[in-house]
Amino acid sequence: MTAAPPPPVDPAHAGRYPAGGHAFAHRDLLGLAGLPPHELLFLLDEAEQWVDLNRQRHKRADLLSGLTIINAFFENSTRTLLSFEIAGKRLGADVVNMHAATSSVKKGETLIDTALTLNAMRADAIVIRHASSGAVRLIADKVDCPVLNAGDGQHEHPTQGLLDALTIRRTFRERGERGEPFCGLKVVICGDVLHSRVARSNIHALTTLGAQVRVCAPPSLMPAEIEQLKVTPYHDFDAALAGADVVMMLRLQLERMQGEFVPSPREYRHLYGLTLDRLARAAPGAIVMHPGPMNRGIEIDSDVADLTGDVNAARSLITTQVEMGVAMRMACLDVLTRRARGVEGWQ
Ligand code: NCD
Repeated sequence: MTAAPPPPVDPAHAGRYPAGGHAFAHRDLLGLAGLPPHELLFLLDEAEQWVDLNRQRHKRADLLSGLTIINAFFENSTRTLLSFEIAGKRLGADVVNMHAATSSVKKGETLIDTALTLNAMRADAIVIRHASSGAVRLIADKVDCPVLNAGDGQHEHPTQGLLDALTIRRTFRERGERGEPFCGLKVVICGDVLHSRVARSNIHALTTLGAQVRVCAPPSLMPAEIEQLKVTPYHDFDAALAGADVVMMLRLQLERMQGEFVPSPREYRHLYGLTLDRLARAAPGAIVMHPGPMNRGIEIDSDVADLTGDVNAARSLITTQVEMGVAMRMACLDVLTRRARGVEGWQ
């Protein structure tokens, strides 16, 4: 048997990716686990044009004109829902938001029936957030269009992982570091790792791209399966911070905690809160990130969250993450609808 020939190379990306649909060979975006480096880098590169567009006064492209995108959010959200809505609208799609609080879900409709209903409306892409890990895949299996996971339980939040990677890459490139800055980058992810889908997606993306990821949490908030991921676990935040280039803080997800996971917010801050003093242990010029919403004064102090600095100094990139979120979601919506739009090479 002869091996299949390698896919042709796309000259538009200087040969960095396979051409057309081979650059991202999936119908859905359910998670970042298992995606190869070239697929992650392809999505990051695609987002760059949208960062540029979003900084113009006229922020509109009509790539998705005539397409309907449904944002089906079964769990509350401010920034992710708004970000997907703005992303779809800037690409010219008709965007409809379904809030679980006012939908038939409250009347007892099963997830599968909701999926079949959304499908019958002939959406061209469905963006789903759900409190249960795996619920988004369940819906994806029942519908005919691409599905984007906007966060499912404690499983994954792939567009957050991508937008964080984009934020990191742009920052280190701005400092004049050439090429892909992930190789050997020391990233600390600290906080409620157990309940965090953001942590999981970031771990998959950053380790795949070559970063050294340290995960720090109190023993009660460290997932048992952490040993299986390519990260170094810490319980001592000061030790984890030593020489770190990126410090990513996570929210204490009190709504997902039944019982006592942390002694008290005060004690939690004492051991795991990011203060200015603590940040001094990281590398000079370290960047601070947080996916939001923040508990100021618990996992992060306001003087760190609001730290502005020149490009080479230690600083907070929390609002930059929000900006990158819109561009990243535009890229994902564009790429996942290419097949349906008949884009050359993607049919
Ligand atoms: C996160 C989420 O909902 O997973 N927020 C977000 O999407 N920006 C993190 C969190 O809720 O703490």
